[in-house]
Parts: sequence; structure tokens; C-alpha cells
Amino acid sequence: MNRKDFPMLTKDIIYFDNGATTLKPYAVIDKIVDYYENYSANAHRGDYDISLKVDMAYENTRELVKKFINARYTKEIIFTSGATQSLNMIANGFFSQYLEPDDEIIITKSEHASNVIPWFNLVQKCQAKIKYVELDKNHKVTLSNLQKQITSKTKVISLAAITNVVGDIRPIKEICQIAHQKNIFVVVDGAQSVPHSLTDVQELDCDFLAFSAHKMCGPTGVGVLYGKIELLEHMVPQNFGGGMNETFDNEDSVFLKELPTRLEAGTPNIAGVIGLGAAIEYLQDIGINKIASYEKELKSYFIEKLKLIPHIKLINPDSDSGIIAFNVDGIFSQDVACYLNKYHICVRAGNHCAKILKDEVGVTNTCRISLYFYNTKDEIDYVIELLKDKDKIIREMI
Ligand code: ALA
Repeated sequence: MNRKDFPMLTKDIIYFDNGATTLKPYAVIDKIVDYYENYSANAHRGDYDISLKVDMAYENTRELVKKFINARYTKEIIFTSGATQSLNMIANGFFSQYLEPDDEIIITKSEHASNVIPWFNLVQKCQAKIKYVELDKNHKVTLSNLQKQITSKTKVISLAAITNVVGDIRPIKEICQIAHQKNIFVVVDGAQSVPHSLTDVQELDCDFLAFSAHKMCGPTGVGVLYGKIELLEHMVPQNFGGGMNETFDNEDSVFLKELPTRLEAGTPNIAGVIGLGAAIEYLQDIGINKIASYEKELKSYFIEKLKLIPHIKLINPDSDSGIIAFNVDGIFSQDVACYLNKYHICVRAGNHCAKILKDEVGVTNTCRISLYFYNTKDEIDYVIELLKDKDKIIREMI
């Protein structure tokens, strides 16, 4: 789908590492170049025409993000450097004020490092505790397993909507319903879900959401922190400096601006934000539901073919996302990735930043194929042919 829009797809590669980052269409690249070539001024600071143009383009992206995830208010959208910074801000800027000793944070062992380590760091400061939802035999979160971990001390549940290694889709709406009945906040890591499926924060009723532009055809170095307005009002900035203050005086008094500016200190990643806007418009033109259903079709096609190869061990045959985790029996995952690389096929191998998932899945390293809408069945057929012949893999690896 839309392959001609991507300059990288004119190179001799098959790109199956979309969970790590996605390729960029001309619509995004051109918009960024246009900013640098034609109106390259700072945002929110100038009194001249091109700076006004920057302000309008920058704030237009905020409107686009608001509509894309169906937030209630534009000021619920904060630009960050990516999902990682968003999750760190949520932990340190909001929950560090809120948690008390012995309070409990629920996560899973299949979370990405960005949804684990900020909480590890926080519990040391607040003397709070981390609890893990046990995953079922398909590595999924069930509501009953989640409920087993909830106590009167539970204050926050923080989960990826789709995990980056096993690609399971979590029932976020139902989790929010259960959590809110007990006054528990829900944080959603949307890095792997927002680019691939419809996200409606009002429908989900999640309290916070984090995601990155570069996993949805946008540039690297920019992301979004969404929070319900009444919660963001209590978030303490983690960065202080220009742009976010109304005034300060020599008595150390600082008066902060309103949201969202208060949480965006310093010159922002202007080109990145403008590029994110272009990426959203691009995805909307295709249609996010069309993307989701095409990916599902590709994934089923791939899985059915992989199942026919006896030496392939599929880790997540039942997940509904476009993430496929597998190993070739008896061969180290990185060796398989290097073998595929000889044929210009890009896949990721290793633990994928989910370093405690091995406790649940029983394998430390996997090969991961992560699909996006520009992948094709022909590409899948080509990879399947290469994976079929185990002797060839052994002969040619490294
Ligand atoms: N989080 C990215 C991945 O899963 C980098 O590959």
C-alpha cells in the first residue's frame, strides 16, 4: 500500500523492523525541508511574519494530534522528545507527587524498558512497590489476572496497549473501567499501538498516554504526552527554562505559563513537531482502520506460512498485531537476523528492550518481524523461502 510515497522503498531492502522505527514518506520529509528552507524561525518568540508561520504550523500539529487521539482539549497534548520522555514525565512529574510509601504500581514483565525503569526509579524515591500481572499461556494480560494484583494500595496501572516483543493487544478500556472504580490511574504506553490502530482516549478513558512520532511515519526525536487536563494541571515540570515561564524575579519566584507551554521548556523540536503533523495527515489520508485491517491480513498470511516450517518456533502465533516473534530451532536469533541481512532484509533480534519478559516467555532472545502498511505479501513470500532451508541458514549465517 502507498509504496511509491517512501524513498527508502526504492532501495534494495525489505523493511520488517517497523516496531523499532518506521520509514518516512515524502509528505513528511518535504514538510520538514520546507520548514528549514523557507520559514526557519523559533516558535512562540518572534514578532515577524515567518515566526508567526512557525507558531501556526507548530500549534496546528497540536490540533491534529488532539483530533487523532480524540482528546477533549488541545492543551492536553504536550510535545516531548518521544514516548520515553513522556513516560518519565508521567512518573516523575505526576506520580512522584502522588505516591506514598507502600503504594503499589502494577505493570507486566512484557513492558518495554521505558515503562519499567522510570517506575523502578520512582519506587526507590517514594518507597512504593512494583507488582506484575501474571501473563496467560499466550503471554496476554487477562482481566482476572490483573484483578488478582489489585489491592487497596494500588495507585497506578501502567501498560503498553500493544507490547513491542509479543505484540499482544491489551483490553485497555476494560482495564480503565476496573481501575477507575477503585480510584486507580491508568497510564498507557501507546508507542506500538497509536501508529497501527484507532486510539480514542475519551473512549478508553485512560489517564495518560505516551507515544512517539517516529513509529508512525514521523521524524525521530519527537513524541506526545497526553494527560487528562485535571491531572496535567498537577504535573510538575521536569525542565525549567525559557518559554514555559510567565516571569521570574530576583526573589527566586517563578510564575509558570498555562498548559501546555508550562511543560515544554526551551526551544522545542519544531521541525519534528511539524513533521509529526504531516505524518498524522498522511496516515489519516490512508485511514487508520484500513491500515489496521491490512496489517492483520499480512500478519495472518505470514503466520500461516511460518507454521508450515518445522524448524520455526513461533512465540506469539495468536497475537492480533503486526508483530511476529520467532526463533529458528537451535540457531541464535542474531545469527538469523544476520543471515536475512545478507538478502537485505531488516528484522530485529535480541530482547527488544523488554529484558524481564524472558521470565514469562522462557526465551531471552527472539527474531522480530514488525509489519506496516507498506509491506507486501511478495516480501513475505521471499522471506519464507529464505527461512525454509535450515541448512542454508547454517551455511550462510555470519
Ligand atoms: N522500542 C523499539 C523496538 O521495539 C526501539 O524496537
